[in-house]
Amino acid sequence: MQNGVIKLAPSILAADFCRLGEQVAEADQAGADRVHVDVMDGHFVPNLSMGAPIVQSLRRVTRLSLETHLMISDPDFFLDEFAEAGSDSFLVHWEGNNNLHRTVQRIKALGKRAGVAINPATPAAMLEEILPDLDQVLVMTVNPGFGHQHFLQSTLPKIRQVSQMIEQIKPECDLEVDGGIDEATAPLAVEAGANVLVAGTSVFAANKSVADAMEGLRDAILQIAH
Ligand code: DX5
Ligand code: ZN
Repeated sequence: MQNGVIKLAPSILAADFCRLGEQVAEADQAGADRVHVDVMDGHFVPNLSMGAPIVQSLRRVTRLSLETHLMISDPDFFLDEFAEAGSDSFLVHWEGNNNLHRTVQRIKALGKRAGVAINPATPAAMLEEILPDLDQVLVMTVNPGFGHQHFLQSTLPKIRQVSQMIEQIKPECDLEVDGGIDEATAPLAVEAGANVLVAGTSVFAANKSVADAMEGLRDAILQIAH
C-alpha cells in the first residue's frame, strides 16, 4: 500500500444528474479526494456518456480535482476543450492509441496530471516505457463502458505487478483501480497495491447517503490492516 493513504474518487457516472452539484458537494464533505468523470463516445466503448460542458458546470461548484477518464477514440482532439473546461487530470487508454507518448506529452504541456489506463486484457508490461512520464496508472477492473459491473478478480495479479513496477520505476505514481469497487472488492484492490479507488455505484447509487457509503468503503479498507 503506497503511503498508507487510500484516496477515494467517486465516479459521477452513477450520480443522479438532476442533483449532480449536490451529490458532488456531499462527496466533497465526506472527504473525496477527486471527482472521476467518465467520458464515452459510443465508439471506443459501446456507450455514450458526457462531455466537457459537465466538467465546466462542475468546475463552478467544486474545488475538488476533476479527473477526466477519456474512453474515446482520438483523445488528442478533445484535450484542449476539457482542459479549458476545468479538468485537472486526464486518464487516456493504452488501447488503440498509436501515439500514446505524444498524447501524454500534450497533457503535460497543458499543465495537467497524466495517467494511462489499461483494460482487463492488456498486460501490465505495456506500461513500462511510459511509466516514468506518468502521474497515475489506471488498472481497469471491469471492461470499460458501463457502470455497475462486477469486479474482475482476474485483474488482481496485474494490480500487484503494476504496483511493483511503480515501486521500482516511479514510486510517486498513483495506482488507481476502476470498476466494481465496493466494500467487498475495495480491500482486495488495496491489498494488491491500489492507492486510489474509483467508485460509482457503491457511492452514488447505494441504499445510503454518499457520506455513509464512503465511510463504508473506508471501514472496509481499514479491516485489512487488522
Ligand atoms: C466504467 C467507468 C467507471 C464506472 C465505474 O467504464 O470507467 O468509472 O463509472 O462504475 P462502478 O463503480 O459502478 O463500477
Ligand atoms: Zn472511469
